[in-house]
Amino acid sequence: MRDLSLHLMDIVQNSLTANASKIDIMISVLNEREDLRVCITDNGRGMDEEFLKKVIDPFTTTRTTRRVGLGIPLFKFSAERCGGTFNISSKKGSGTIVEATFKVNNIDRPPLGSITDTIISILIGNEGIGLDLILECGSNHFSFRTDEVTNLLGGVSISEYEVLEWIRGYLEEGIKVIFGGVLNEVSS
Ligand SMILES: Nc1ncnc2c1ncn2[C@@H]1O[C@H](COP(=O)(O)OP(=O)(O)OP(=O)(O)O)[C@@H](O)[C@H]1O
Ligand SMILES: [Mg+2]
Repeated sequence: MRDLSLHLMDIVQNSLTANASKIDIMISVLNEREDLRVCITDNGRGMDEEFLKKVIDPFTTTRTTRRVGLGIPLFKFSAERCGGTFNISSKKGSGTIVEATFKVNNIDRPPLGSITDTIISILIGNEGIGLDLILECGSNHFSFRTDEVTNLLGGVSISEYEVLEWIRGYLEEGIKVIFGGVLNEVSS
């Protein structure tokens, strides 16, 4: 089973391939802890409507002329299998929003996995990317923004080992504070 951090990696990889310079990731527990929502917004090249249809359901198209991948369909399947929802909207030339919700306590909900590892590997491979990670549960809120970190660093690279280790600790702490005891895989 693909955990959420691996799905996240797939979706962010798509944004990077689409030349996004800004990627927002929001992970929220909503509705009295019933739903987990993962939303990824990018400012990449986007897709037109016709292409978007093929992307969402590559198997329904009769004889696609090009190979269509599985990152998006797998994420959709994963959400819908546990009673959740999936939505993608895109505008050619301006960007894409991918949103999936999961039922927090459904037995088939994929666990978070290591969101920290996903974020760190994105940062290592894509220096200069504007990445925001927001975590929310009820009124609790945590954010990590690369532009804030970059400002603080004043010229030191975000992919320096010590910087990445600091980011790792900060993210681990944030995940624990926001989702500890709420998502059963995160201890409080
Ligand atoms: N954020 C995005 N911006 C622009 N185009 C996108 C975006 N996400 C997906 N696409 C387009 O949709 C296609 C299908 O995406 P999907 O992740 O399902 O498969 P893939 O990336 O082609 O292959 P795979 O993920 O299996 O390695 C991509 O090849 C790309 O053309
Ligand atoms: Mg992909």
